[in-house]
Amino acid sequence: MKGIVFTEFFEMVEEAHGYETVDKLIASCNLSTDGIYTSVGTYPSSDMFELVQKLSDQSSTSIPDLLFAFGGHLFHTFTQKYQSFFQDHTHAFDFLVTLHDHIHVEVKKLYPDAELPSFAYQRTDNHSMEMTYSSERKMSDLAHGLLHHCLGYYDHRFSIEKENIVEDGSVVLFKISIV
Ligand code: HEM
Repeated sequence: MKGIVFTEFFEMVEEAHGYETVDKLIASCNLSTDGIYTSVGTYPSSDMFELVQKLSDQSSTSIPDLLFAFGGHLFHTFTQKYQSFFQDHTHAFDFLVTLHDHIHVEVKKLYPDAELPSFAYQRTDNHSMEMTYSSERKMSDLAHGLLHHCLGYYDHRFSIEKENIVEDGSVVLFKISIV
């Protein structure tokens, strides 16, 4: 997993609870590093899962809720750091269909060791679209948070339904409706 996921995760925790909480969290985990992550490095996904699990225990917030919130934080960072991906669109669906064939492809070119989810789309019209998320990392709650903030970013009023296609969460269907 790319270091940017870790550095952004620590930033979110620091913004919400302060630096001491980040320190305590790192100290309570058995990580592959001493808690030093650089944004371009690559680290075991198990480190992230342990951090999320421990933060969930320590903050009494469920793992899905934490990942959803992290999606919001990450989306904000992406809009700041990679503005060019967002600025050519006025409708969230136009942006979202570029995710699989363009954005994550560019990420993979830049970081060949990036582990990215795949998305399949079914777009009926400007009001409804289905996206199927597939990933061994089973981080659909993170995808949900990213999607939620993406729809808000483009000023839509919307609803998102989420349904596990495979029980373990490796394949998940999102039904997005703009109202
Ligand atoms: C709404 C838009 C987006 C969604 C729903 C999305 C979804 C995801 C998810 C769920 C992951 C976690 C890994 C997994 O589930 O297998 C991920 C990883 C990642 N995404 Fe996206 N993404 C979005 C936009 C972007 C943008 C704009 C960028 C930046 C150019 C980006 C770059 C990355 C990177 C660097 C990773 C980490 C890969 C790794 O750890 O190896 N994503 N994405």
